[in-house]
Amino acid sequence: MDSIKTKPILVVDDSPHMRMALKEALQKLGHRVVLCENGVSAIEKLHQHEFSLILTDMKMPKMDGLTFLREVRQSIGNLPVLVITGFGTIENAVETMKEGATDYIMKPFSFEILKKAIENILIKAKQNKEILTNNPKMQNIIHIINNLALSDITILIQGESGTGKELLARQIHRLSKRSGRPFVAVNCAAIPDNLLESELFGHEKGAFTGAIERKIGKFELAKGGTILLDEIGEMSMMLQAKLLRVLQEREIDRIGGKDSIPVDVRVIATTNKDLYKECMEGRFREDLYYRLNVFPVNIPPLRERPDDIPLLAIHFMKKFSVSLNKEVQGFSEDAMCLLKNRQWRGNVRELENVLQRAVFLCKGSYIEVDDLLIEDEVMGSVKSGNLKEAEKRLILQTLKDVNGNKTKAARVLGISVRTIRNKLNEYGKNFPEV
Ligand SMILES: Nc1ncnc2c1ncn2[C@@H]1O[C@H](COP(=O)(O)OP(=O)(O)OP(=O)(O)O)[C@@H](O)[C@H]1O
Ligand SMILES: [Mg+2]
Repeated sequence: MDSIKTKPILVVDDSPHMRMALKEALQKLGHRVVLCENGVSAIEKLHQHEFSLILTDMKMPKMDGLTFLREVRQSIGNLPVLVITGFGTIENAVETMKEGATDYIMKPFSFEILKKAIENILIKAKQNKEILTNNPKMQNIIHIINNLALSDITILIQGESGTGKELLARQIHRLSKRSGRPFVAVNCAAIPDNLLESELFGHEKGAFTGAIERKIGKFELAKGGTILLDEIGEMSMMLQAKLLRVLQEREIDRIGGKDSIPVDVRVIATTNKDLYKECMEGRFREDLYYRLNVFPVNIPPLRERPDDIPLLAIHFMKKFSVSLNKEVQGFSEDAMCLLKNRQWRGNVRELENVLQRAVFLCKGSYIEVDDLLIEDEVMGSVKSGNLKEAEKRLILQTLKDVNGNKTKAARVLGISVRTIRNKLNEYGKNFPEV
């Protein structure tokens, strides 16, 4: 709650009397308050400062509440907005919700009603603070997850690479009664099969050649908490059988151990494959599939929720402007259009990477098409299947962009300076050291 509570609430109301009353009430609830008498100055304020929430009247001169709401949704993203409707008509309230209001209260209202509405919004905002979305399907997933988190139900999260599977898994853990206990993630695709078993279940000293010490597995490390089995579709049939036993018996066997050890762990699994299809084709155990699939969650790819592209793009633009110390404010129309029309095969992760680069390259206040294009050239080689060529182009282009500064290029690309040097040797290119 803290970080949210430390940001002030923006109150927009044309009546001085109402502004003062709201200010007093909100301060009583421990909030800092900024007052505005119309939507125009409120939009200005919103561009200058960060707020936890907007509290706005509907009927105002200069800019009416609905227009204001639309403006907020377009330029600020999904900041919570609590609307005060004056005329007591349900139609009005419904209209505001359609335009993206988070909630509404009707005049006249008591201190208690205001208090409750604000508390609800801020709690929700905290819970959803990392998963940003404007998409109804995604909102529905988040809603379901918020309710499921408290149970110990096994959850299978399916979605393409970079759609936010791990983010969702962490959210489930954070909202669960296990949140004070460990969250342990195991990437089943990254660990060779012969090591994965001991990684998951541990081994006793001397269990096999090289087992010089006892090793505690991830299931035991996650005791009382949550284990995330990432890329479960990559697990071998042999390990699938062992995992099935763990899910059924709620106990594990260390390799070379004599006794089974009870484990109290909630299991979340993710996959970017169609696991049902894997079953049908005999690569995944059907009984395990049904065990895991108690509650399936399918995250749609980014291209199927274009409403999230501007929201996430603005979010990443702001994030990288701060971290890269730039003063980027937005996107040119063409640049935004380009973003909206891309395929995003790497989904949100790709968008995040593209924006990091774009903010870095951006020379003015707005990200232009040029700041986004280079990647397309690189993508051309990726699509043609030539990864080596794509990598080379990306590295050389980035170096050019940063005037040959290898440290900067390494930071933009998320690789080490040494890797850059090695690659340059490989290409027979020499950028002067900066
Ligand atoms: N809705 C979202 N709001 C904000 N950030 C998001 C959202 N979805 C994904 N991200 C960010 O995108 C990146 C990729 O997300 P994540 O690692 O959860 O994806 P994933 O589905 O597990 O990918 P992979 O299949 O490649 O492991 C992360 O940096 C994450 O924070
Ligand atoms: Mg992942």
